[in-house]
Amino acid sequence: MILVTGGAGFIGSNFVLQWLAAQDEPVVNLDKLTYAGNLRNLDQLRGDARHVFVRGDIDDAELVARLLREHQPRAVLNFAAESHVDRSILGPAEFVRTNIHGTFNLLQAARAHWSGLSDEAKRRFRFLQVSTDEVYGSLAAGDAPFRETTAYAPNSPYAASKAAADHMVRAYHHTYGLPTLTTNCSNNYGPFQFPEKLIPLVILNALAGKAIPVYGDGKNVRDWLHVDDHCGGVRKVLEAGRPGEVYNIGGSSEKNNLEVVQTLCAVLDELRPAAKPYASLITYVKDRPGHDRRYAIDASKMRRELGWQPAENFAGGLRRTVSWYLAHAEWALSVTSGEYQKWVSANYQERGAA
Ligand code: NAD
Ligand code: TYD
Repeated sequence: MILVTGGAGFIGSNFVLQWLAAQDEPVVNLDKLTYAGNLRNLDQLRGDARHVFVRGDIDDAELVARLLREHQPRAVLNFAAESHVDRSILGPAEFVRTNIHGTFNLLQAARAHWSGLSDEAKRRFRFLQVSTDEVYGSLAAGDAPFRETTAYAPNSPYAASKAAADHMVRAYHHTYGLPTLTTNCSNNYGPFQFPEKLIPLVILNALAGKAIPVYGDGKNVRDWLHVDDHCGGVRKVLEAGRPGEVYNIGGSSEKNNLEVVQTLCAVLDELRPAAKPYASLITYVKDRPGHDRRYAIDASKMRRELGWQPAENFAGGLRRTVSWYLAHAEWALSVTSGEYQKWVSANYQERGAA
């Protein structure tokens, strides 16, 4: 069995669903159910004995030690994190606690557990850290994409907290020999993404006839990857990645934000026509402080060493994603009440767009 953390969030829940669709190896899913965690993402697994959900904090040493002792997982995959850059700007403390200290706590527990295993079980054990391309900082137009050897230069409190965690993972391999793997992935999109992130936010705002906020000049570039392809990449790394190594995962699909927003509006015009084109809702708002200009991933190591490549292209993946949000209006409604509305006021009022 494997232990997944953050498996009720966007990527974690997609990973758990994909994992159990592909094989019968059980999953223990440890998630604190913050605002971003939602058990509805895992509805398909109700009554499925292969999925054991535990509500709890990765920073709880006793709980993590107990889960490792009781379930004896062959791997720990750490998806749990505070994951939104804008939230990290308004409130960085939780990012330090969960992303840095929480990962440290998991590493400590994993090391203690791993030390007591038989030689064969020790050799097979893996600690996989799910990280982000944001640790590498910002590229200028024309710069080569991030490689695994690119120096870390995080710019936001979110990126800095993920970078700190990655360094601890690296140190636990080099110092203690813990068989770690780290993946640094580019921006994901797909089903179950919390609508604080660009793509679901645009879809839901457009459908509600609300302003579609574009930060700054809309020319910041992200390298988009469908979440299924990210999850497939993580599975490959777990299966065949070399301990101590880092793997960059990305879609080679660079788009600036305005292109993304305009494409979303065009797909919506086609699938759910409204009185006016959705693009008429686009509103430029005050930029994000320290806004990274461009991210791009060189995923050639994944291709070369693990034979991985994305199955979905951006146009197809985006269309599929819009269709998913149209078909799951009640999911969106359930996550956009209460706390979510408070976040929208906090983030956008000050930008003149709430
Ligand atoms: P998310 O915010 O949607 O989900 C995070 C999950 O972690 C939630 O279910 C939440 O309840 C849980 N969680 C938070 N704090 C916790 C704690 N202390 N203990 C236990 N559970 C806790 O995030 P996501 O977009 O699914 O990202 C998952 C991982 O992938 C993160 O580590 C993120 O840094 C990384 N990542 C995300 C992207 C992206 O585009 N979203 C890209 C690359 C890497
Ligand atoms: P986001 O989805 O928050 O991901 P990240 O900051 O981790 O890349 O944002 C993606 C891009 O979209 C980023 O350049 C910021 C921009 N953005 C907007 O223009 N408007 C918005 O309302 C949001 C949430 C993001």
